[in-house]
Amino acid sequence: PGRGRFLLAFSVSLVAWWCQAQGWAPEEDHSLQIPKGWSHVGRVAPSDELVLIFALRQQNVEQLAKLVGRVSDLDSPQYGKYLSLEELRMLVQPSRLTLSTVHKWLVAYGIKGCKTISTMDFLECVMPACMAERLLPGAQFHRYVSGQRSAVRSPVPYSLPEELAEHIDFAPVGGLHRFPAQSMVVNTPLGKQDMAARDQHGRAAFHLGVTPSVIRQRYNLTERDVGASPNNSQACAQFLEQYFHPADLAEFMQLFARSFGHRSQVDQVVGHQGSGKAGLEASLDVEYIMSSGANISTWVFSNAGILPTPI
Ligand SMILES: *[C@@H]1O[C@H](CO)[C@@H](O)[C@H](O)[C@H]1NC(C)=O
Ligand SMILES: *[C@@H]1O[C@H](CO)[C@@H](O)[C@H](O)[C@H]1NC(C)=O
Ligand SMILES: *[C@@H]1O[C@H](CO)[C@@H](O)[C@H](O)[C@H]1NC(C)=O
Repeated sequence: PGRGRFLLAFSVSLVAWWCQAQGWAPEEDHSLQIPKGWSHVGRVAPSDELVLIFALRQQNVEQLAKLVGRVSDLDSPQYGKYLSLEELRMLVQPSRLTLSTVHKWLVAYGIKGCKTISTMDFLECVMPACMAERLLPGAQFHRYVSGQRSAVRSPVPYSLPEELAEHIDFAPVGGLHRFPAQSMVVNTPLGKQDMAARDQHGRAAFHLGVTPSVIRQRYNLTERDVGASPNNSQACAQFLEQYFHPADLAEFMQLFARSFGHRSQVDQVVGHQGSGKAGLEASLDVEYIMSSGANISTWVFSNAGILPTPI
């Protein structure tokens, strides 16, 4: 989501420039097609409550990006000197103009009591569907289902007043058009038979042409280049209902990490890990961080939500 915001901040300013006549279409680049596997249930009732999350334009984003580089760079005197949440807030919190412009816009539509977070760059607002449709002119909220999952989306485009373009990065976060990804779900845990199937036929699908040893070779890592100090640690962060499965990880390491010292277990999971299903992205993240940074204690930070909910 972090990188998404940077990209969006850029695309939004272009969009604003193009759409001066008709207002601002924050999601112009998103497909309006309903993906395979989703079926339409009907229009959401006007009184049904919806939760909309808005990302307000942050300040000093470039400075933040440089800072992230420095605190992560072993050669920098600032290595490891992370900002506190308060310091982060001072850096990125939206300007007063942004806060008041967005506030006035919401209040004009009768929307009050939105929740914010410490850094003040997200707003979460609950409102009936009819109010959301007035707020986002053009939007029509419909419900769709796919198996157990259900999503409320707008199959038609919407626009926002152009004055908001420079204050909102993405409205609402996650989008009204985009559907949750399905193809990302991998069935797990993989039993022995599944594993064989994956080994024979699964390679292309899993991009296993690039195995850990290919990556280690590319970085000139020998079998001696593994973590040796017990104080080493690394972590990966997962969002958007992306989970890994410990059994998968263990099998992966057994198959692909034989040639170097490694660990096969995540030491600590912070946050919620969904059970049953593992996502391709999360599984690969954990598997590859633990085979490139081999023999290093690994933590996984997980945010369950399908939206960047206030933490
Ligand atoms: C690995 O070694 C080769 C040959 O010594 C060198 O050309 C290449 O730049 C090295 N790669 C990295 C990532 O250090
Ligand atoms: C792995 O790391 C531990 C310390 O965490 C160290 O004692 C051990 O020697 C390392 N294993 C290898 C193969 O280097
Ligand atoms: C590991 O960290 C502890 C606590 O910060 C420190 O006392 C110790 O010297 C460190 N050990 C190594 C091998 O760096």
